[in-house]
Amino acid sequence: MDAKEEIRSRLSIEDVVGEYVQLKRAGRNWKGLSPFSAERTPSFIVSPDKQIWHDFSSGRGGDMFSFVMEMEGLEFRAALELLARRAGVDLEQYNQPGSGRTSGKSKDRLYEALELATHFYQMQFSQNKLALEYALGKRGFSKATALTWRLGYSPNNGSALCDFLVKKGFSADEIKLAGLSSQNYRGLGDMFRGRLQIPLCDPQGRVIGFTARLLEDNPNAPKYINTPATPLYDKSRHVFGLHLAKEAIRKNKYVVLAEGNLDVITSHQALVTQVVATAGTALTEPHLKALSRLTGDIRLSFDADKAGLAATERAIPIAAKVGVTLSIITIPSGKDPDELIRSDVSIWRDIITKPLYAVDWLIERYSSQLDLTTAVGKREFSDVVINVVRGLEDSVEQDHYIGELAKILQVNKDALNQKLVQPANKITPVRLKKPVDIKAIDKATVDRQKTEEHLMSVMLAQPKLRDYLKIVTPDMLEHEPAIKLLGFLKEFPDFAGFASLANKPKGADTEALRAWAVQDLGEYGKILSLVYETLYQDLELLELRYEVARLRAKLIEQYVRIKKHMIAENLNDAEGTAVDQLLHQAKQLDKLLKSLQGDKPRAQDK
Ligand code: UTP
Ligand code: MN
Repeated sequence: MDAKEEIRSRLSIEDVVGEYVQLKRAGRNWKGLSPFSAERTPSFIVSPDKQIWHDFSSGRGGDMFSFVMEMEGLEFRAALELLARRAGVDLEQYNQPGSGRTSGKSKDRLYEALELATHFYQMQFSQNKLALEYALGKRGFSKATALTWRLGYSPNNGSALCDFLVKKGFSADEIKLAGLSSQNYRGLGDMFRGRLQIPLCDPQGRVIGFTARLLEDNPNAPKYINTPATPLYDKSRHVFGLHLAKEAIRKNKYVVLAEGNLDVITSHQALVTQVVATAGTALTEPHLKALSRLTGDIRLSFDADKAGLAATERAIPIAAKVGVTLSIITIPSGKDPDELIRSDVSIWRDIITKPLYAVDWLIERYSSQLDLTTAVGKREFSDVVINVVRGLEDSVEQDHYIGELAKILQVNKDALNQKLVQPANKITPVRLKKPVDIKAIDKATVDRQKTEEHLMSVMLAQPKLRDYLKIVTPDMLEHEPAIKLLGFLKEFPDFAGFASLANKPKGADTEALRAWAVQDLGEYGKILSLVYETLYQDLELLELRYEVARLRAKLIEQYVRIKKHMIAENLNDAEGTAVDQLLHQAKQLDKLLKSLQGDKPRAQDK
């Protein structure tokens, strides 16, 4: 199995697509509104049997990888990586086949190493006076809290954990890959030494890394060190505490996002458990997406300093993109949640229920920092705020804030609106959950592709109608696979079609033919079969005949129109015999159109 297959076998296409498009069951398939156009009747279909999606409104389709590429605007490799992570597939295994460095079970081995390490650190913790004093004394954690969060202590003698894991049968490479060792001038040693160990868990509660705090602040050492990026841990996706906060987030219908891991633990100890953190890293789209599966109401409790201001500014467009509502919890007197909770938990309980919507918060913050009576102040203020307003998805909301801004700055709304439509300074255009502009791909091309696809779907399915292909030539078709299929069907007009693709060959089909069709058509064959099932399956043969005639006529008319346009252009600067040739071509095209007239297509469109 290759990586693609492995991922496909672990994820279902309806789940992958379902993250972006709301799907409803429709027989064996799933249906939803196209994410590529602003439609009202669902024409976007996902087929779990065939492992493909197809958008009838834009004629696009493919497998789960191409879907993620489209939605996230990614290259194939990046989409593969994204889905590999989701599926828990380690791509490295597939990159170096036979390298033996990471076996097929390598990930399980890493989980095992981390679990053993957690246990090891817990044992050390229970015996270490300084660590106990720090966690239970200075930080005020209860024994129950220490057990729930599996707090630990890393001994400070160089390689205690590595030695322990080697004894348990782990190789130096495995220990390294789990992020538990580091190479320094003295050789291989423990990554964490003499620190309070806080396990980082995935949403299922499996340990995937650690963050570790000094017991005593020391200006010469970082206060916290964290597991580096490993096959299991990616800080830009990890949400700390999710495994213990999930239930409360669902129940309360909101989540509080703090900055520090220990803020989370303190809050949970105070029985406010809808709290998680993105520790030591800026808020990212994957963070918000992970949370959006539980709630759309995300409340940030960041430091209200300059960094917090910038972080909020950056977070607003990401939230708009993911489709969640972001608001800000302001802690009085510049404390962090941990300090506040330990001095007065009732204030914490209170303020988390009264967050200020992020854009309002930003406006409030900036207006207190800038001098809004001066032109420079007005410009700076409107620059930042409009950048943020531009990132909002909702036009009513945008308009509301333009109105607010006009009032605050005492300027004309038009001036602000003008600024709004100017190109954004930094914010990248929003794609997710917003229809991609179909016009950009040119309506006529989409139309041609659809005609071609619909026609070819019937041609592949119905051997009895293939005589309609006689006057169809490769240059009338747009897609490489359609051209291939045309050649194939002309050569083997009795080919049994979908039946052959799915089952054992019958009649005139040889094994080799079938193999060709399955292999070469691949995904295109599946898409055509889905198109056929969805649009034509229930039609009588006679009805189908009319439909094929109509499609073929449409295809050829489109073709003729384009050809004639080209001829007309060429005629402009043609001379001598070239002119005659072009005129001859035009005549042939007219003949072709005439030959269609016996077809009697149905009057109404599909
Ligand atoms: P803070 O300095 O605000 O720490 O950093 P804190 O959470 O209040 O920690 P305590 O209360 O002093 O123990 C905020 C977060 O930034 C990350 C940590 O995740 C921390 O929780 N950080 C901070 C690091 O990763 N490394 C550092 O050296 C410092
Ligand atoms: Mn703190």
